[in-house]
Order: sequence, then structure tokens, then C-alpha cells
Amino acid sequence: MSLDQFLHELDELAHSAAAAFDAAADADALEQARVAFLGARSGKLKAVQKGLGRIEAGDRPAAGKRFNEAKSSIEAAFESAHQRLAAAARPKSRDEQFDPTLPGHARRLGRLHPITQTIVELVDIMGRLGFTVAYGPEIEDEWHNFQALNIPPDHPARDPLENLYLRDADDGKGGALLLRSQTSTVQIRVMEQTPPPVRVISLGRVYRPDTADATHFPMFHQMEGLWVDRGVTMAHLKSVLRLFVTSYLGKDVHIRFRPSFFPFTEPSVEVDMSWNDGWIELGGAGMVDPHVLTSVGYDPEEVSGFAFGLGVERLCMRRHGITDIREFYRNDARFLRQF
Ligand code: PHE
Repeated sequence: MSLDQFLHELDELAHSAAAAFDAAADADALEQARVAFLGARSGKLKAVQKGLGRIEAGDRPAAGKRFNEAKSSIEAAFESAHQRLAAAARPKSRDEQFDPTLPGHARRLGRLHPITQTIVELVDIMGRLGFTVAYGPEIEDEWHNFQALNIPPDHPARDPLENLYLRDADDGKGGALLLRSQTSTVQIRVMEQTPPPVRVISLGRVYRPDTADATHFPMFHQMEGLWVDRGVTMAHLKSVLRLFVTSYLGKDVHIRFRPSFFPFTEPSVEVDMSWNDGWIELGGAGMVDPHVLTSVGYDPEEVSGFAFGLGVERLCMRRHGITDIREFYRNDARFLRQF
């Protein structure tokens, strides 16, 4: 064999070996390629080496030198392929793993409770009708929860079974305390502190020892409204409530009054709103009883007024089609996230 031919074969071998090592996708493929080219028995390099013997003696040293170079380059190609696969198999560092093109983890934002959102909206609507917000405590005395509201001591509304008393009247510590059963307490607190005219709403929690079911919960929210001025009439009451309800629920929602009784209003009505071809109670209302005006130092000959107390949960439930009041207070994020 001529030297040229031998060198040509060597070059071909070096090229195809490097290409095979580069193409190996995993350790098994690389090992197969290694055996094929560098294998001690039947590797292709071995076969070419055998050709050395058939080279003319004078050319042999040059051929041998070139053979050793080719062998080194094939071994180097194997080594670099081996390194490449080892690097791919090694667990990546945090920096190598970080891929700035991946979408991030969105941070989930908290939000206001649906009842709080409702309260914010109701305050806004009533604000446009000229009502400002008044606050009162959730722990009340009997004067504000009952007496000043024309509910005398023997009235069944004061029954301990109907209320959540915190302190007895006769324990010598300054009178009974209870969780307020209605926001009408705030009517008294406002009128005690402000001469007429007053036009306020008060939103907050009230408490009654009711068994929880789809429409009852021992704690719920009311929006109390009070407007006292010269010449305030039942017509103002109905107009304000109709404007309020249509603003919050839509023009197609109607209200109606049914005659009723509350000790602190005369006349008194239940307020219903239309829902699914029927009516659902929204709360109570009426003209502030002259006794109440007198008890806070107003002159019933001078001023008159109306008051109402509406259920906030009811309004929110009707707006959103919620059928069970208990959902509000289960703290189930799957429910709360919808608002
Ligand atoms: N406080 C009454 C209730 O809780 C509702 C009401 C408020 C009635 C104001 C008349 C006037 O049932």
C-alpha cells in the first residue's frame, strides 16, 4: 500500500470517528462508537494499523508518526464527547437552571370580602343621596338597643333567648350589655349627639341567637338609614329606598311596602324587593315614632323622619345569585376568590 493511500485512509477514519462521537446522544451510543473505532480487537483504528506493515520500509517511520497523531486526535474527540455527555448528566446549578424566558409565578392578591365590597358600594350609593356614614359599637347597653327605641323592659324583644347578653342588669356593674341585635342603636347615638337635621346611614354587624341555615346566620350585617328634618314623609322613604335598590340591583327591581310593626316607628312597614316572579323581604322601615324623637331631645312637633334597616347579605346574595348565606363565613377561598 502506498503512503498516500494509507494517509488518506487515516484522514477518513479520523473524520468519521469524530463525527460519530459528536453525534452520540447518550453514554450507550458513545460507548458503541468507541468500540467501533477504538476497540482493541475489531476497532477500525486497529484495522488501519494493520496496513502499516504493508507500507514500504522507507515510508514506515512517517506513516507511523501520522498514525499516532490520528490515534491521539480520535482519542481526544472521544474524550470531549465523553465530557459533553457527563456535563449534561450532572445536576444543574441554580444559575444554569434559571430560565428568564419562562412565565413567572403570579402572586395571588388578597381582596376585600364580598360583604365589605357590598358595604363600600352601598355607602357610595347612599352618599350620592346625601347620606353620611355614622358608626356605633357592637356591644351595646339596653338604653340604645331597647329603651330609647321605645322597647320597654317587659317587651318580648328583650328576652335573653332572643339576644346575646354579655352582662346581666343586676350584677351591679352598671347595667346589662349585649351584642346589638339591630343597627337601630346608631339612630339613637346619632340623634343624641346631633341636633336635627340628620341624614345618616350606619352599616355593621348585628347578632341574634339564630340557628344557621341557608338564609339565617347568628351574625349578619344591616344598613340602617335615618333622615330627620322638617317635613320628611313616607313618600321620601319610599323614593329613597326605590332609588337605592334600583341603583344597586338594577332598574327592573321593584320594592313594595307591607304594613308591619316596630316599636320605634309609626307607621311601620316591611320592605320587600321583587325576585324571580315573587318578593323577598329586605328589611323594616317606617316613620320615626314621636316617642323616640322625644327620648333623644328632638321635638316631634318640629321635625319628622324616617328610618330603615336592611339586610346587607340579602342584597349581596341577590346581586350575585348566592343561595346560602353561610358561604360568606366559611372562609373558603374558592368561594371568596370569585368576588
Ligand atoms: N331594626 C329593625 C330590625 O332589625 C329594622 C328597622 C329599622 C325597622 C329601622 C324600622 C326602622 O328588624
